[in-house]
Amino acid sequence: MSAEAPTPQSRPVLQVGPLKPSLAQTLQDDYAAYVLPDEPAEFLSAHGEEIRAVVTSGRTGVDAGLMAVLPNLGAVVNFGVGYDTTDVNAAAAHGVLVSNTPDVLTDCVADTAVGLMIDTLRQFSASDGYVRAGRWPREGMYPLTRQVSNTQVGIIGLGRIGRAIALRLSAFGCVILYHNRHEVEGSPYAFVGSPVELARDVDVLIVAAAGGSGTQGLVSREVIDALGADGYLVNIARGSVVDEDALVEALIGGRLAGAGLDVFADEPNVPEALLTMDNVVVLPHVASGTVQTRAAMEELTLRNLDSFLKSGQLVTPVPVPAVASG
Ligand code: 8YV
Repeated sequence: MSAEAPTPQSRPVLQVGPLKPSLAQTLQDDYAAYVLPDEPAEFLSAHGEEIRAVVTSGRTGVDAGLMAVLPNLGAVVNFGVGYDTTDVNAAAAHGVLVSNTPDVLTDCVADTAVGLMIDTLRQFSASDGYVRAGRWPREGMYPLTRQVSNTQVGIIGLGRIGRAIALRLSAFGCVILYHNRHEVEGSPYAFVGSPVELARDVDVLIVAAAGGSGTQGLVSREVIDALGADGYLVNIARGSVVDEDALVEALIGGRLAGAGLDVFADEPNVPEALLTMDNVVVLPHVASGTVQTRAAMEELTLRNLDSFLKSGQLVTPVPVPAVASG
């Protein structure tokens, strides 16, 4: 073996899935990270034992199958606040820690929620299209739309992002109600016990809950029906939280006034029917997508990785689920 040959533990970092190019470059330059190939079997049998940390994003994550073939894995470092694509139960069972990037993206995601709400109710994207298509001189004024200020807004999920949305909309004179797994002590906003009751009470329902099995389909057909023909849905969380088929059917049938969506059930695929609706705004999952916020997410991702490799501790670990006994 030559003096330069890497020892078996010398390349402990594995990139899983695409990442922000500058982050991927740093992983190459500073950590000599491996990148998991599309056909991983050969790679995993040759190098699986070397890997101590995976760096991934909410787009890809690490499932139980991959964890099982990385016997020395100690941490999944996730670029993004949402980590629903990583199997946290399997991680807990294997003693693998998971980190995410909270706080640094809260402002941008809340800005996007408010922007989507305004765009959807006021139809700015559609009226911009109206001008660009030369319809203003031919057809006259754009139809009237829905006022944003002073509406009743329901927020599903009053975590960091939900609270930042509420704060912004309070300045618009909106009345804020929320539904959350638990009532938030000391919150100035009214707690409502179920998503259906919340939907019944508000003009606009904003989804800000974490994705994953616990919230799958939480905004059900029944919730969408309760929101009703004058109600609007805004989703900046995860497509999985909403019954997308029910949403599309309600919009086609005129049983919902409109929707502003940054996330979808099967990204990057967006239901065809939504693409021609003036009362629907569709964004390509851009809520945290600013230069400033993505740089802060990158920095926090690398701090988590460094910290884990040096001390075995993460800077922003996610809660470890209780491992089912039995
Ligand atoms: C990112 C997100 O776009 O943080 C999240 O959960 O959804 C977004 O900020 C995504 O994680 C990056 O892949």
